[in-house]
Amino acid sequence: MNELQKRIIELKHEKNALILAHYYQSLDIQAVADHVCDSFELAKRAGASEEKLLVMCGVRFMAESAKILSPEKTVLLPVPDAGCPMADMIKPEDVRRLKHEYPDAAVVCYVNSSAAVKAESDICCTSSSAEKIVRSLPNKKIIFIPDCNLGAYIASKVPEKEIILYEGHCPIHNTVREKDVLAAKKAHPNAQVLAHPECRPEVLKYADYIGSTSGILEAAEKSHAHEFIIGTEVTIAEKLSAQFSEKKFYPMTGEFLCPDMKKISLPNLLSSLENMEHEIILDKDEMDKARSSLEKMVNI
Ligand code: 13P
Ligand code: SF4
Repeated sequence: MNELQKRIIELKHEKNALILAHYYQSLDIQAVADHVCDSFELAKRAGASEEKLLVMCGVRFMAESAKILSPEKTVLLPVPDAGCPMADMIKPEDVRRLKHEYPDAAVVCYVNSSAAVKAESDICCTSSSAEKIVRSLPNKKIIFIPDCNLGAYIASKVPEKEIILYEGHCPIHNTVREKDVLAAKKAHPNAQVLAHPECRPEVLKYADYIGSTSGILEAAEKSHAHEFIIGTEVTIAEKLSAQFSEKKFYPMTGEFLCPDMKKISLPNLLSSLENMEHEIILDKDEMDKARSSLEKMVNI
């Protein structure tokens, strides 16, 4: 532990704060977190925690979900503009237009979305829970927002449903193309391909395993293979390499990096704890409506 990390831990204890971190956070941040999780677990942990002060090392929608699930707690996001560009691709009026167009459809909203968009939806999902949630709904028609790649993947898993897709995507995962997987497979012919469902279908068709960040970590741990091509943010390959030195992990491309996730650093995390920066404040009515969609997801 370096001096900054020690100071962060001290302050965390002094203030009785809980530090939550997503798996895409740099490893020095993960080392000071109480829990490092995928987005489903982050939402659950935030809701279940006893601490009254939560610091979210992740992006805005993760901090907002924590606040919505525990409105009585103070939730801090160390860098206020650490956002998710996919979440910015859809507005509440887009959801209202879709609901008007398909009145008998249920709206399933990926958590990578704003509180206002969640408030317009019937239920939220994450990549680890999306299939189960879509199956659980009585409606045949499902409006799936905003990620068209995750939506298309779920449509392939649940063909009995009619999934209406929206044109949102993750600019990081969506940039990877078929030629990139083929190049990675050519360079590492014995490697298994583990990919996140935010990747395009043309990429996912080469995957030996498709799942959330925690699913990919678990699949790599359990597999008897020795080499893996990791089709998601580069920190997952880094984390696996540090954990399992007897196995080899290759990022699918050199550019698989989420710049927003990397805005959180040890200095700004320390400053967040010292100065109570930057508190998540949301409209009460919007929070109340969004809570219902998030709670259904967590409880299902
Ligand atoms: P997970 O739910 O798999 O952690 O993914 C969150 C995310 O933003 C992926 O880009
Ligand atoms: Fe959003 Fe993509 Fe970054 Fe995940 S990797 S937080 S979906 S921009």
